[in-house]
Amino acid sequence: MIAQRDNPPEARRQAVQAVLDARRSAGERNRLGQFATPNALAIEIVQYVKSVAGRRLREVRFADPAIGTGSFYSAALAVFGQQRIKSAVGVELDPSFCAAARDLWAETGLDLVHGDFTRIIAGSRRPVAPNLILANPPYVRHHHLERQDKERLQALAYRMAGVKVNGLAGLYVYFLLLATAWMEDGGYAAWLIPSEFMDVNYGAALKRYLADRVTLIRAHRFAPDDVQFGDALVSSVVLVFCKTQPPPRHTVEFTFGGTIRRPHASDFILLDKLRESRKWTVYPSHAANDRRTSSDGNGPTLGHFFRIQRGIATGSNKFFVLDRRDAERRRFPKRCLRPILPSPRLLKTTVIEADEDGYPLIEPQLCLIDCDLPEEVLQTRHPALWEYFQTAAALGIKQGYLVSKRSPWYRQEQRDPAPFLCTYMGRGSGPKQPFRFIWNRSQAIGTNLYLMLHPKNALARMLRDHPDHAAEVFALLGRVTGHELRGEGRVYGGGLNKIEPSELARISAAAFVERWPELLSGLQQQGELFGKMSGRLGA
Ligand SMILES: C[S@@+](CC[C@H](N)C(=O)[O-])C[C@H]1O[C@@H](n2cnc3c(N)ncnc32)[C@H](O)[C@@H]1O
Repeated sequence: MIAQRDNPPEARRQAVQAVLDARRSAGERNRLGQFATPNALAIEIVQYVKSVAGRRLREVRFADPAIGTGSFYSAALAVFGQQRIKSAVGVELDPSFCAAARDLWAETGLDLVHGDFTRIIAGSRRPVAPNLILANPPYVRHHHLERQDKERLQALAYRMAGVKVNGLAGLYVYFLLLATAWMEDGGYAAWLIPSEFMDVNYGAALKRYLADRVTLIRAHRFAPDDVQFGDALVSSVVLVFCKTQPPPRHTVEFTFGGTIRRPHASDFILLDKLRESRKWTVYPSHAANDRRTSSDGNGPTLGHFFRIQRGIATGSNKFFVLDRRDAERRRFPKRCLRPILPSPRLLKTTVIEADEDGYPLIEPQLCLIDCDLPEEVLQTRHPALWEYFQTAAALGIKQGYLVSKRSPWYRQEQRDPAPFLCTYMGRGSGPKQPFRFIWNRSQAIGTNLYLMLHPKNALARMLRDHPDHAAEVFALLGRVTGHELRGEGRVYGGGLNKIEPSELARISAAAFVERWPELLSGLQQQGELFGKMSGRLGA
């Protein structure tokens, strides 16, 4: 291990980094993608690259396309030694980081280029191609990219790398593609990037690129509750690859948790398997991994038995959701009020009973204003509500995106109450469910902090005929494991998990069919899909 006390330039770099970081708030640094790589991690990464590249990196031509103060360069110097580094280039957009890096490293031969890497790489003065790229690119999310900039980047990634990048991808995806296009054939790269692309649709093109166009050697994912960069709100993965075509039957080492040197779990995955995998975070499939999928895509899933949708986005919960008693006191008409669940944070129970009006028997009892009467009618028939609506303009409610698109602006999306709900986000590790399932026996609907599960097909028919089975359905939902939920959902830095309707729909419903084999008969049209299942159950 290379200790900082034996490395005075690195100690100086850390001091400069601390001063520069202190000048910006965490929010600003998030927007600008400015979270430095801890030097110990950079050193581990470089040592790993050195060990897999061996003699193929006898001479190093180093590049970091987003160099900051140069954590990776410092690590490369420490691990490879200055003799072996024949050239080195760093690109940096921020003038203060650029000046600091120049001050720190110019003497060692690092060529510092000030500017936007994605423009420099496209221009005629692009620096000589490196054979080693080490990068922790800006994690700027797509909504912070201007539309024109995004279009420019998409066209460039297509021209340079032949990849059509989805508009939802963050800046780091473009960095990786453009820098790899720049790198020498046979060169090595290590990228520290958000792991989100491994699971979501917009990551598909990058996954294909990593599987087909380079030889991916290692993917190490950090445990989400071990946030590498303190306050950066993402969980990260280190990808190490070589810019060559992968050999036949190539396997990629997927590791999870712990450190690069001592991961908690490890597995070698055949590239062919990877190409067919929707989610890459399920590898290594090991008890230590926090994410596993339960459904192999062949058996019945929750999506076969439930129509799953997000609860409603009101446009302003503050304005449209009121305490029921408050609404009654204000004499708002009952026909314009619907029971609605409070935020999951305030929901202390998972079984919600109803009072005689269908309101949940919980505190607080809330109602949603949802009305389709024209304003003129309201003014004469329900002046109290009309007057309340008159306060919306001054509060800026009517300019909101959702509200401005509705007609009348106070009419909500329509939802039937669902007997089962699942919270949309939450925490939890190991077998603990990160989301809570709720049995809703009231007429309340949920906001978009919930997913609403409406039974359909054979399950709906069964519950109609045997309403008493609802308790068992609820119990089976409670048996979905934390691993399954996290395996289908997505995870953010700090261990916050979220799950979308389509992701919950992919969870295996094998337990439902084992309990009630007759549920399969309603799905005969999907006979082939369930062929295997029926065989196993002897149904
Ligand atoms: C996540 S930091 C990493 C810095 C350094 N490589 C490290 O590992 O500590 C990303 C750096 O990229 C810089 N940056 C952001 N956008 C850039 C761009 N378009 N071109 C070059 N650098 C950029 C930021 O100022 C920041 O210093």
